[in-house]
Amino acid sequence: MQTDFLVIGSGIAGLTYAIKVAEACPDKKVLVVTKSTTDETNTKYAQGGIAVVHDPENDSFSKHIEDTLIAGDGLCNEEIVNIVVKEGPQRVNEIIEWGARFDKEQDGDYSLGKEGGHSEHRILHHKDVTGAEMERALLETIRRSKNIQLVNHYFIVDIITQHHLGFLITKATPDVQCYGVYALNLQTNQIEILQSTVTLLATGGNGQVYRTTTNPSIASGDGVAMVYRAKGRIENMEFIQFHPTALYQAGQKGQAFLITEAVRGDGGILRNHKGEAFMERYDERKDLAPRDIVARAIDSEMKINGTEHVWLDCRHMDLKKFIHHFPNIYEKCKSLGIDVAQHMIPVAPAAHYSCGGIKTDEWGRTSIKHLYAAGECASTGLHGANRLASNSLLEAMVFAHRSYMDATEKIKLTDAAQPPLPAWNTRGTSHPKEMILITQSLKELQQVMSDYVGIVRNDIRLQRALRRLDLLWEETEELYRSTIISPQIMELRNMITVGYLITKAAAFRKESRGLHYNTDYPGKSELLQNIVL
Ligand code: FAD
Ligand code: SIN
Repeated sequence: MQTDFLVIGSGIAGLTYAIKVAEACPDKKVLVVTKSTTDETNTKYAQGGIAVVHDPENDSFSKHIEDTLIAGDGLCNEEIVNIVVKEGPQRVNEIIEWGARFDKEQDGDYSLGKEGGHSEHRILHHKDVTGAEMERALLETIRRSKNIQLVNHYFIVDIITQHHLGFLITKATPDVQCYGVYALNLQTNQIEILQSTVTLLATGGNGQVYRTTTNPSIASGDGVAMVYRAKGRIENMEFIQFHPTALYQAGQKGQAFLITEAVRGDGGILRNHKGEAFMERYDERKDLAPRDIVARAIDSEMKINGTEHVWLDCRHMDLKKFIHHFPNIYEKCKSLGIDVAQHMIPVAPAAHYSCGGIKTDEWGRTSIKHLYAAGECASTGLHGANRLASNSLLEAMVFAHRSYMDATEKIKLTDAAQPPLPAWNTRGTSHPKEMILITQSLKELQQVMSDYVGIVRNDIRLQRALRRLDLLWEETEELYRSTIISPQIMELRNMITVGYLITKAAAFRKESRGLHYNTDYPGKSELLQNIVL
């Protein structure tokens, strides 16, 4: 297939960008591809909402900027923070025009929620299913567009660059260019070439690298791994955000149900197994301290008391209001026999968000020519060492917009003619005989990352993790070279790469900052640096 604009990913970043480029260039073709069903994205599961300055009487850009900088613990790019906070309201108004509905108070004003680290109420939300509502509005807008083609079940394998034309490419090679991608069509099991003039990666997060995560199974860090293989720049991978309150279910692995931070914003209190409201011992902001502090406090309480979870107490909250704001959580708890008016909710931290990713500039440009990145797979400089709650949907829309601005200019100046691209080489490969080799390696990876590269780290654990990852890498490469390509082997390979990038960056950072806490270096270094791999 050949297209003008190729968009990889159908979450908030990919869809926002696609709508905009399609509208700006009605004579150009826009192809959106996704490896799963159209709406199976991190976006769909977003609960709390989108942070934006909406009430200038009580809030201001400077307060939102300040809160973002405090959470980012010295590593945010202030210029980018300014851009996102100030352009945010325009982007939110656009999605409202496209049909997204946010909850309103009885007087008709938007209802603004509050989450950890925010000094004001500024979270627009749609009950506790904000992401699903935004995804719905975006998909309906896409379906009305005449020049957007949306295809499911295409697994993007690799970015095509000069490497595939026979040139030696290293990190130092200037002008590496993206010509399109190799894609595994999951219906035919054939690898196809998707040739494009401009490509946007919007492949989302990587929570699946850990044993328990709030992320769905698509979140395997594919975009980051592809760019790393193509010798592009990856930044700040050590900053993995663990959400403090995923619903704990004994023995559960994989995707865990989230109990949004907005529940604590409305008055929910964390308690340990003795019933103590322990957060007051850790931070004066108590249950609404930034996420890294709350997650570490929970981790510490669980370790001290030898428990697998703590409790979220909502029993004192107004039940009617709870059901109105959190109908999805209420129903989920009820289905498990938890009556929130009478019982506390068992919660534990789970991997939630990747603050780092593919390094981009203020226009979403990556270090590879004609390749943009937006959304969770990108490292724009907004989050620094820790993301402020509900800033990611906002960031995705702002950088989808900025990428569209730059890409539509670039395409005018670009000759669409490209060198002939070689077909995928399947020589010497056969169908995998033992799937267990892949599933077992995945389990090992998740165990290594959860045990050694989790909320609290130290040098011995990180070195151990690197040695285990080396072995997993070698075994997986051997398997990859000899088997016909499948999504399972590709995701495993991508997740090992991402696990390596997280661990390597964590080992480089000899300090504790934001989400990265190393007990061998509990203080902060004076040197402010981003780790680029
Ligand atoms: P996604 O929405 O994850 O989309 C990724 C897309 O890429 C998918 O379509 C996927 O199929 C596709 N893809 C990936 N790899 C490939 C490949 N190899 N080939 C083809 N396609 C591929 N943020 C907030 O701001 N507010 C919130 O309230 C909030 N709540 C959250 C709650 C939960 C449970 C979770 C998991 C996250 C939450 N977040 C929240 C974070 C936010 O939802 C995500 O960061 C954001 O939605 C990411 O959007 P995206 O467009 O970058 O990627
Ligand atoms: C939540 O609703 O608690 C998640 C918000 C976010 O990740 O930004």
